[in-house]
Amino acid sequence: MHIIHTIQALREWRKTAGSVAFVPTMGNLHEGHLALVREAKKHADNVVVSIFVNRLQFGQGEDFDQYPRTLQQDADKLADEGVAVVFAPDEKELYPNVEQRYNVEPPYLQNELCGKFRPGHFRGVATVVSKLFNIVAPDAACFGKKDYQQLAIIKGLVEDLNFNIKIIPVDTGRAADGLALSSRNQYLSDSERAEAPRLYRELQKAAASISAGSTDYAGIEEQAAAALVAAGWSVDYFEIRHAENLAVARQGDKKLVILAAARLGKTRLIDNLEVSTV
Ligand code: PAF
Repeated sequence: MHIIHTIQALREWRKTAGSVAFVPTMGNLHEGHLALVREAKKHADNVVVSIFVNRLQFGQGEDFDQYPRTLQQDADKLADEGVAVVFAPDEKELYPNVEQRYNVEPPYLQNELCGKFRPGHFRGVATVVSKLFNIVAPDAACFGKKDYQQLAIIKGLVEDLNFNIKIIPVDTGRAADGLALSSRNQYLSDSERAEAPRLYRELQKAAASISAGSTDYAGIEEQAAAALVAAGWSVDYFEIRHAENLAVARQGDKKLVILAAARLGKTRLIDNLEVSTV
């Protein structure tokens, strides 16, 4: 496995490599990331994983500085998975201009759901992912459904800006108690970790109501948010949306997704669950 730090060296390697499936990450890899890598392997001769903690997608007061940087452990895990290349540029390599002068601006969706609470986040994601796509030039790229809104924005980006890359969504990896795997889970105290699976349980309850025929989406959202608040959570949103375009769910929509973001102490957790109506 090669660990490559510069754009030039990555491009040199790419010239003679066969097909590439790409997994962009911010490192601190857990089983959820490794599931992306295993899926990627099915789609190309080589898997390239990038590890870059992207300052542009963190807001003021967010955890950019504390975000765990664990390159050696990550590389060991990826070598075991048979990854061809780890691309781990430093900030100067990816953002040589002190200010990133050109940004990729996603449409209205960047200001909804998580975007409402993390202004500029999806601009930062769309910008770094576009840069990485241009550098790695993959044939396919894997993104986890855990970041459902990110996945929707990347799908739109690839379509609208004509990246010739197949986007492969990968199901959310979960702990045995249902908690979605996330690098941020390690910020939870023991008692918060014990409480954390409630988020998924509320998503499951909401999905069960919809599957049973309820179309009182506002009522379902309110009930779930109230249950989380009663258990000590601070809820950013709990919303039922159209599964494809993430528009507010309407009667008659067949495929929905329930998305939630809520804080336990200082830790913000997100999760979601797709559901079909009857
Ligand atoms: O999902 C992530 O880890 C990040 O948002 C990504 C796609 C690697 C861009 O920095």
